[in-house]
Amino acid sequence: SWTPGQIIEDAVARIKEQVGSDQVILGLSGGVDSSVAAALIHKAIGDQLHCVFVDNGLLRLDEGDQVMATFASNMGVKVTRVNAQQRFYDALAGETDPEKKRKIIGNLFVDIFEEESNKLKDAKWLAQGTIYPDVIESAGAKTGKAHNIKSHHNVGGLPDYMKLQLLEPLRELFKDEVRTVGEELGLPHQMVWRHPFPGPGLGVRILGEVKEEYCEILRRADAIYIEELYESGHYHKISQAFAVFLPVKSVGVMGDGRTYEYVVALRAVETKDFMTAGWYPMPYADLARISNRIINEVKGINRVTYDISSKPPATIEWE
Ligand code: XMP
Repeated sequence: SWTPGQIIEDAVARIKEQVGSDQVILGLSGGVDSSVAAALIHKAIGDQLHCVFVDNGLLRLDEGDQVMATFASNMGVKVTRVNAQQRFYDALAGETDPEKKRKIIGNLFVDIFEEESNKLKDAKWLAQGTIYPDVIESAGAKTGKAHNIKSHHNVGGLPDYMKLQLLEPLRELFKDEVRTVGEELGLPHQMVWRHPFPGPGLGVRILGEVKEEYCEILRRADAIYIEELYESGHYHKISQAFAVFLPVKSVGVMGDGRTYEYVVALRAVETKDFMTAGWYPMPYADLARISNRIINEVKGINRVTYDISSKPPATIEWE
């Protein structure tokens, strides 16, 4: 059996051989796969790798800064951060349909990524963090076997006319191998063992129309939830956990005043394959603490609920 060190050594040699002195471009999302791909390719070819990180305004609290700190500051990877928050909010304004929201976010990402790639005229390769399960999944899609209930924009790739060759150094690896390789490459433990995060991000965790104000509220609630899950030791027993913003107001009371604020739902699931999932039996004491913190610390929220739906018939995300 292979050690992460051997996998890395092998991959580095192969990348060097494939790429030679060409320039490579990679869309860094902050997720495990693109992060490990970036670290691996950087180890192989250093400054020939150019990463583009698009901040779409739908990321978690401080995520953009963390990505820049990890890659640009600590590892010396060339990363262009594109602050496209407003473009995404403008494009999403007025749209309430979940699938249309996904398409808007996916298409705008491709547009922006293309604009950035055009600035790197010499790039000959497009690197992607495709892993083995993605390869299987898209093979299934071609034969019509995969039932994608929601369009997962980030496995689609870029338009053909970009004419870049694909560099996919993680194509033969399973998720756990990718994580071990990431750790061996020196990526932060928390980044490597993070729960999956959907490409459209908070865009599908804000029900209906996405507004900047809602994103800010949700980011703060989600950060408290996740922090509490780490501290109470639940995080690594859960497959995926996140907060959802419900754009409905309910009445509450604070001090001697009446409040009328939004609702947040907390989701935590256990699953092996994300096709079916059960809700995580979170102890009441933890729920109580998390709920109190969110309501006390996040302006705009006066009610927290816990999602006790399994998949099926519910899905993991709310949209
Ligand atoms: P559902 O909600 O379909 O989610 O039960 C299953 C898994 O897929 C993730 N998910 C997405 N990932 N783009 C993604 O990259 C998407 O549009 C998307 N929708 C759902 C979800 O977070 C869960 O891990």
